[in-house]
Amino acid sequence: MQTITLNNEVAMPALGFGVYNIDNRDVVRCVQEAIECGYRLIDTAQWYGNEEGVGRAVAGCGLPREEIFITTKLQSGRRVAESVEESLRKLRSEYIDLLLIHWPMGGDAAIWSAMEGLCRCGKLRAIGLSNFYGSDLENILSCCEVTPQVIQQELHPFRQQPALTALYRRLGIVPQAWSPLACGRENIFANPTLLRIGAAHGKTAAQAALRFLVQGGVCPLPKTSHRSRMAENIDIFDFELCEDELADIRALDRGHGLFGWYD
Ligand SMILES: NC(=O)c1ccc[n+]([C@@H]2O[C@H](COP(=O)([O-])OP(=O)(O)OC[C@H]3O[C@@H](n4cnc5c(N)ncnc54)[C@H](OP(=O)(O)O)[C@@H]3O)[C@@H](O)[C@H]2O)c1
Repeated sequence: MQTITLNNEVAMPALGFGVYNIDNRDVVRCVQEAIECGYRLIDTAQWYGNEEGVGRAVAGCGLPREEIFITTKLQSGRRVAESVEESLRKLRSEYIDLLLIHWPMGGDAAIWSAMEGLCRCGKLRAIGLSNFYGSDLENILSCCEVTPQVIQQELHPFRQQPALTALYRRLGIVPQAWSPLACGRENIFANPTLLRIGAAHGKTAAQAALRFLVQGGVCPLPKTSHRSRMAENIDIFDFELCEDELADIRALDRGHGLFGWYD
């Protein structure tokens, strides 16, 4: 698995496995299979209600803890330290590789400051944001001592947010893509452009979409509960899209999100 070096020198896998909407029981099998397929980054959240299953799968996977990169996300800004302790207990770990504020929740500067403190004492290896835009993002950037290492947001061929990802790059922040396959919306797996470009490399539309993100320096977090798709989605590191192909996929951008609840 290729890695990306974050602005604090922590190495993060270039692609991860998302576990939103997989329940605690099923997530054990899914995470075990994902690890067997080669995934080394697992993206969960307090809100997903499956940190326990993720912890069980990682603890039982046979690999040393430090070979797996676990991301989780704060659901509430109250008592950050206690909330992190609860995640650590569920994840069966002494540290979290990456903690994100899941969405702006008020008092974000104080939450960020508490996260910085937990970084200094080793409970968190990296910190970041999710779904922060406009003044919410400026608020953190203007007061932070630690620049976010990662910002997670909706990113896929139909929602590319080029200005924002360019800003992140200038600031040394790695963009992570949630719903990198548009959650299957807009018939993405049968999109003619993605099918054509994928086929030119012996790949699927999903693989073309994920490769597009990785080549743009974005870390995608595809979710699937099917083992064959886990293998398909990670098999994107043996081909390269040319400039014309990148331009064709750039042209798929709709300029707005598909989910509506955050922008
Ligand atoms: N920070 C946030 O606010 C936020 C928001 C949303 C998501 N996320 C993260 O991002 C992850 C991914 O997002 P997502 O789950 O919404 O959507 P996604 O990964 O874009 O798409 C998942 C959907 O596509 C299907 N799928 C996956 N690979 C496929 C393939 N190769 N061929 C055909 N179908 C395929 C899956 O079905 P099957 O499972 O049936 O295969 C599922 O229905 C989440 O799990 C979560 O970790 C974060």
